[in-house]
Amino acid sequence: MIRVLHLSDVHFGAVDARRVEPLLALANDLRPDATVLSGDMTQRARPEQFAAARAFVDRLPGQVICVPGNHDMPLHNLWLRLIAPFARYRRAMGPELEPTLTLPGAVLQGVTTANPLVWKAGRLRRASADRLAATFAAAPRDAMRIAVLHHAPVPAADGTPADMARPAEVLAALARAGTDVVLSGHTHMPHAGFAETAAGILFLQVGTAISTRLKTDANDIALIEIGAASVTQHAFLARGNKGFVQAASARFLKGPQGWRAGA
Ligand SMILES: [Fe+2]
Repeated sequence: MIRVLHLSDVHFGAVDARRVEPLLALANDLRPDATVLSGDMTQRARPEQFAAARAFVDRLPGQVICVPGNHDMPLHNLWLRLIAPFARYRRAMGPELEPTLTLPGAVLQGVTTANPLVWKAGRLRRASADRLAATFAAAPRDAMRIAVLHHAPVPAADGTPADMARPAEVLAALARAGTDVVLSGHTHMPHAGFAETAAGILFLQVGTAISTRLKTDANDIALIEIGAASVTQHAFLARGNKGFVQAASARFLKGPQGWRAGA
């Protein structure tokens, strides 16, 4: 059983200061094998915001894998956004925009969906899809294939349509690559489920871990337990002045017909 801590949308520059130390304490108590950050490390891609994000990441347990979100590209500095959209992200978080992390029984591949041209909505570039497919093709047969994206090609928890160009084509490309699980953020609303048109892919979204930019009444993170043919997502929520407390769990089983809800 592999345990992955899933955080997203930490948004340094718009952080709720009450959340940082409790989250780091919980993360280190949980002792996950790896920690995933699915984008929006900062609020406005400023160097000092990336420096704070880097210092936070350095205190997270296990191996860390992260991808940029739309907020990690400059919004107003159009020249920088178009010429070198991820320069500041790379300086702080490392040169690789699409890292790979191999664990016993799982392979995680980062996919950069942030699009400098439109800033907010995501996209899947052909090169990223090809890279994802190549990583998953080279993985051991029984490894769980996990893609880490900022934007997901499925609706948010409240039914808001996917904030991504050509979501049906993205879904098809993820399925062709052999994706089992997609970890994402962006919506600031936790959500777990599988897409009817791609039953082989389980989508696990978390909201914002520590930022003030709430779309629900709580900050949230998830601990994900990955078995040979099962995934369990344990949510942890933080409200008001309280720390993170364990909330609902959702279990999913993978069979020949795709995912189904488990008992
Ligand atoms: Fe965000």
